[in-house]
Amino acid sequence: MNAPRIAQKEPYACEVVEGKIYSWCSCGLSETQPFCDGSHSETDFSPVMWKAKATETVYFCGCKQSKGTPFCDGTHSSL
Ligand code: FES
Ligand code: FES
Repeated sequence: MNAPRIAQKEPYACEVVEGKIYSWCSCGLSETQPFCDGSHSETDFSPVMWKAKATETVYFCGCKQSKGTPFCDGTHSSL
């Protein structure tokens, strides 16, 4: 696969915990969106690791087209 699968055309709002590392799915195939479940193993995609600096709500990209991964940058609105 050359392009990621669009998991959904909107972000996932997630409560993250300070100091915890998250593994964002870049391929779109994971069953546990927006996080990697290993489904990328047959593709050239890899998860994006990100460490939370604070306990707060963040918006992870669901369309997998963001230029600012792992977060939504609004690109989904033009899909
Ligand atoms: Fe998509 Fe791992 S399942 S990057
Ligand atoms: Fe991907 Fe917004 S959900 S840019």
